[in-house]
Amino acid sequence: MTTTAAPSTPTTAAAPIVAPAPMLDIHGRPAAQAWQLATPTLHINHGSFGAVPTQVLAYQADLKAQMESSPVKWFIAATGLIKESRRKMAALLGTSEENMSFVPNASAGATVVLNSMEFGPGDEILVSNHGYGAVVMGAERKIKAAGGILRTAHIPINATADDIVSAFEERLSSCTKLVITDEITSPTAMLFPVKRIAELAHRYGARVLIDGAHAPGLIREDPLDLGADYWIGNLHKFVCCPRGCAMLIVSTELAQGVHPLINSWGRDLPYPERFDMQGTLDQTSYLCAPYTYEYIENTFGWDRARQYIQTLADYGQELIAAAFEKETGENHHVDYTQRAPGMRLVRLPKGIGQDHDSDDMLRDRVSAAFDVETAFTSFDGIGYLRLSSFIYNTAADYQRFADECVPALCQWAKESA
Ligand SMILES: Cc1ncc(COP(=O)(O)O)c(C=O)c1O
Repeated sequence: MTTTAAPSTPTTAAAPIVAPAPMLDIHGRPAAQAWQLATPTLHINHGSFGAVPTQVLAYQADLKAQMESSPVKWFIAATGLIKESRRKMAALLGTSEENMSFVPNASAGATVVLNSMEFGPGDEILVSNHGYGAVVMGAERKIKAAGGILRTAHIPINATADDIVSAFEERLSSCTKLVITDEITSPTAMLFPVKRIAELAHRYGARVLIDGAHAPGLIREDPLDLGADYWIGNLHKFVCCPRGCAMLIVSTELAQGVHPLINSWGRDLPYPERFDMQGTLDQTSYLCAPYTYEYIENTFGWDRARQYIQTLADYGQELIAAAFEKETGENHHVDYTQRAPGMRLVRLPKGIGQDHDSDDMLRDRVSAAFDVETAFTSFDGIGYLRLSSFIYNTAADYQRFADECVPALCQWAKESA
């Protein structure tokens, strides 16, 4: 298996960095005009909370106005509207409506899955050291309460797909009842070979939950084809739906074993209908899902958008890593093979952002000093800048970060040494 050693020597023969032309909508307008993101704030963290286009916000405002004008009529009709939205969304994503339900967010989807399983003493849940903290904490609480064990597959940041599968296999046993694997990892922006992990886990008799929180919009594949028992994905990240809007997809064999977090009048209905009714809640975000997906398709085109996002992420990573390198003389590129679409890491200078709390402090300091929204993560004691790219971003955004923030980050690192 490959190792995690942080490279410290400068790279040689840097490839020329070509800035992609800004994304335009079908009318030739800059994509950013379709959002109402504050200026001059720099927004390079779409991956954390997404951002909703103005036209989608207007669509949701109209739904809310309908709800407020006749609440009784609205809530009587709401379940049918959600069912129709679910049907349309499944068709747009090329998956099966019988296997798909809306949930408010990926965290809720993971909780539904954990609630649906019984664990006993000696049972194990297997996660990886790239897992999303809140999901891992939920799994740990559940398995420990049952007298079982949470196991962690340790995967270096430069692991290949084979390395990742091997790391899961090292920790699998007949005690493993559930494997939770991310599709796109949050702290490290890696793409995991989830189909292979699912096949492997099934050979050991374990169920598999794929946490695809970042996948919808970025990855064009029917989640059911990945072969997992459960899959969760956020529509309020790269699909740009109003928050909270996420999907839970469950295999046909296990579908009738999952129940929504809120016990409501749909209790005796089969899956997924029982998820369509969740008491008195504003679920207009669910009704916006097909509209939002089609809005991006018709205004920018999803294939074009994916291509742009990928090219811009590569560009931003190269540019900013080179800017750090100029300041420190070290190599800040993260040399990883399993790069996710839409998010990238750049290694920070030593001394800053080495754990979760200092990452957050750094995020707040950069925001206060430079009016920049970005994310910092840490992994194996090394701090990283986690860049996102989206269609409203342009090459100039990453240039601004390189010009304004990189020298300051290097200075702060020196001061903390
Ligand atoms: C991999 C992963 N899983 C789960 C979540 C939780 O998503 P939410 O906050 O929408 O529940 C996130 C959020 O960023 C994530 O990155």
